Amino acid sequence: MIKTRYAQVGLGDRSTLFTWAITQQYSDHAELVAICDTNPGRIELRKMMVKAAGCEPACYEAEDFERMILENKPDVVVVTTIDSTHDHYIVRAMELGCDVITEKPMTTEADKCQRIIDTQKATGRQVRVTFNYRYAPFRTQVKELLMSGVIGDIKSVDFHWLLDIHHGADYFRRWHRTKRNSGGLLVHKATHHFDLINWWLSTIPETVYATGSRQFYTPETGNRYGFTRRSERCLNCADSEKCPYFIDLKIDGMRKLLYLDQEHHDGYYRDRCVFSSEIDIEDNLQVVVNYRSGVNLSYSLQAFMPWEGYSVAFNGSKGRLEHVCMETSYTSGDGSIPGELIPMGTKISIHPHFHPAYDVEVDQVGGGHGGADPLLLADIFAHERPADPYLRAADHRSGAYSILTGIAANRSMDFGKPFRIDSLVQGLKYPDYPRMPTSDEPINPNPLKNSNARRE
Ligand SMILES: NC(=O)c1ccc[n+]([C@@H]2O[C@H](COP(=O)([O-])OP(=O)(O)OC[C@H]3O[C@@H](n4cnc5c(N)ncnc54)[C@H](O)[C@@H]3O)[C@@H](O)[C@H]2O)c1
Repeated sequence: MIKTRYAQVGLGDRSTLFTWAITQQYSDHAELVAICDTNPGRIELRKMMVKAAGCEPACYEAEDFERMILENKPDVVVVTTIDSTHDHYIVRAMELGCDVITEKPMTTEADKCQRIIDTQKATGRQVRVTFNYRYAPFRTQVKELLMSGVIGDIKSVDFHWLLDIHHGADYFRRWHRTKRNSGGLLVHKATHHFDLINWWLSTIPETVYATGSRQFYTPETGNRYGFTRRSERCLNCADSEKCPYFIDLKIDGMRKLLYLDQEHHDGYYRDRCVFSSEIDIEDNLQVVVNYRSGVNLSYSLQAFMPWEGYSVAFNGSKGRLEHVCMETSYTSGDGSIPGELIPMGTKISIHPHFHPAYDVEVDQVGGGHGGADPLLLADIFAHERPADPYLRAADHRSGAYSILTGIAANRSMDFGKPFRIDSLVQGLKYPDYPRMPTSDEPINPNPLKNSNARRE
């Protein structure tokens, strides 16, 4: 069988998911021909890791990315670098004749997004954005319920995402903590959430208004805890013994190998103080979004919560769907399964007009991000892929609309006024979404004669 040739750029924590899929699970028809990173230590590490699987990719430093493509002729480039650098590799890979698989967020700024849109149009190459959240069985189930019309057509959505003080704090320790690198949490993190809304509703955002601030991960909070001898990082912090945010890279196998042992190459400290004044991203955010279909969304994101997960409610012409999801606590790369589902804390309920509410049994499987990661990998790499009625595979159009909400929200916070999505980029086509119930369909007559019947 002819194998698809993959090259991968960015060899940090998340990248291993794709490396293992290519070199192990799907190696009968996939081949990792080259790898690339700015950090020579992480390149060497990955080289050693895949050697055990009988794979010997060619190795390149990031400045030789183009040479890597020309010399190894991959069919597909997998981009798993830090967010602000995705656009460079996506665009260059397409220009050199490759398709692209990129981690979210597709990119962090409107002009970078425009370059991806223009290059995709000019080259006709494919960009796959790995929105794993769509694949968690219970989120697909929500999509299926909404498509079935059980609550009619959707008028509005309340969506509130909570990052806990373990995982949430992690965004304030490393590169994510500056907007220059990550676009802030409304781009870096909420790209998942805004994509879910676009896909759940099969629509695109039009106008965005946002407020936000950094309320918790501040020097003042560090002082209020009494951590007055703080250092730049945990490794040499005099307050480490009393600080619950302390992480010890020395004793943590994978993070030691991946980050601490490699930091002399590039100065990337994985354990920076979460109370640093250098941080410029928000931890407390509120967004209102108006969609093409007429739906209004009220969204919030908090990064210092006691539990991790979200609640979402869809208000429709025939009732309301409520969904709560609780996830296990983790910090990236700590060896636990990221975002594993807490089954007892995860619920879907339907509240029909004029009828009693009922719970829906939640579909669940094991695996990272609520069981989403293995299903996403199968949909990307498996040789035979059944047709997907939910159209979960996302391309650059969905990638763009998911980040443009966050980019518009960032501008809205800067200027204190609503921002239109169509003022940010040109020539962006409507993504492929499944058909949803519409507002011109008749509402089925209710079996109960009137609302008194229920009270009797
Ligand atoms: N879908 C998800 O659930 C999920 C989860 C975690 C991370 N991610 C995404 O995956 C990507 C990687 O995140 P991570 O947690 O692995 O980060 P990481 O810091 O562990 O790894 C980033 C890697 O990129 C390399 N790098 C940095 N700048 C580079 C450049 N200019 N050229 C080439 N390499 C460069 C770094 O040396 C490092 O090896 C990010 O885009 C992140 O948003 C997605």
